[in-house]
Amino acid sequence: MRADHTSDPASEQDCRQDQPALTIGAVRRQIAARLAAARLDQPALDARILMGHALNLSRDHLLTQADQPVPAEAGLRLEALVVRRLAREPVSRILGRREFWSLDFTLAPETLDPRPDSETVVEAALALTPVDAPLAILDLGTGSGCLLLAVLSERPQAWGLGIDASSGAVAAAAANAAPLGLTDRARFVQRDWTQPDWRSGLVEGIASPRFDVILANPPYIPDGDIPGLEPEVTRFDPLAALAGGTDGLDAYRRLAPQLPDLLTPNGVVVFEVGFGQARQVAALFVAAGLQCLGTRTDLGGIERCVLARSARRSIG
Ligand SMILES: C[S@@+](CC[C@H](N)C(=O)[O-])C[C@H]1O[C@@H](n2cnc3c(N)ncnc32)[C@H](O)[C@@H]1O
Repeated sequence: MRADHTSDPASEQDCRQDQPALTIGAVRRQIAARLAAARLDQPALDARILMGHALNLSRDHLLTQADQPVPAEAGLRLEALVVRRLAREPVSRILGRREFWSLDFTLAPETLDPRPDSETVVEAALALTPVDAPLAILDLGTGSGCLLLAVLSERPQAWGLGIDASSGAVAAAAANAAPLGLTDRARFVQRDWTQPDWRSGLVEGIASPRFDVILANPPYIPDGDIPGLEPEVTRFDPLAALAGGTDGLDAYRRLAPQLPDLLTPNGVVVFEVGFGQARQVAALFVAAGLQCLGTRTDLGGIERCVLARSARRSIG
C-alpha cells in the first residue's frame, strides 16, 4: 500500500497498478499495524474509519468485502489519509466531522473538536429544563455550536444564541445548524466577552436580554499545561479554545459576575470545567450572587460541570 517498503511484512506490497492489489482486509491490517507502530491510541478503529472514508464503504461492507482488492485510486486516497494520521492529525479533523450527541458536526480549523465529556453539559441542561418549555438559551464560546444545537434538538420550543470571538467558529456553527433543521431557532454572532460592550445589541430589539439557560465550555487549560498536551490537541485545536490563563480560570472570572444580569429569575447556568476546577468555579458563581446547584461528573467520574441558578427566583 505505501511506496516506502520496510521490513514489516505487512507493508511489503502496495496498491500501485504494477503490482497485484492487496485486499481490503490486508490493507486494513497493514494500516492498523502502521498506526500501532506509531503508538497511536486506537489503531484498529482509526484504520477502519479511514478505510471506510477512502473507499466510501460502511463498517459492514468493509467486512463483507474484505477479500476484494483495493482499487488503485482509492488506495492512493487512503495512503494520503494515513500519512495525515501518522502526522498526528485526529481522524475527526481528517474527515472534517465529529459526531456529538448522535448529531453530525462539521469542523473548521477555528472550532474545537467537540469532546464526548462535553455531553455532560447537555445532559445537565436537559435534566434542569422541561421538554416543552419555550426557553431562551445562551451558549458562551459556541465553537462548532455542538452544545447549543444538541440542547435545541431536544427542546423543540426553545431558541438559542451562540456567541464566539472567532468569526470562523460562528460561521461553522451556523452552517451546522442547517442540516439539523435548527436554523430558525439558532442564531450565532461574533462577540468577545473580554470586551466591555459585548452584550450590547446581543438580541435585536431587546436592550438587556435574559436567558433561561446559559451554557458554556470556556477555554480552561492552564497556559503552562498546553505544551504538554497531545499533538492532536496542540496542533489541531485552536489555542483560543484551550488557553484559560495562568490557572485556567480567566474566562470564569470574567463571565461569573455578568451572569446575574443575563439570567431570567429562574434561569440556570451549566458550565463545563477542567479537572479539579469545580470547587473554584462554584465559589466564583456564589461570589457573583448565584446559588450553586452542585456538579455533574463525566463518564470518567471527573467533575465536569458546575450548575447554578439565579438567586432571585420568582415563586409560582
Ligand atoms: C473549549 S471551546 C468550546 C467550544 C464548544 N462550545 C464545544 O464545547 O466544543 C471554547 C470556545 O470559546 C471561544 N472563546 C474563547 N475566548 C473567547 C472570548 N473572549 N469571547 C468569546 N468566545 C471565546 C473559543 O473561540 C472557543 O470556540
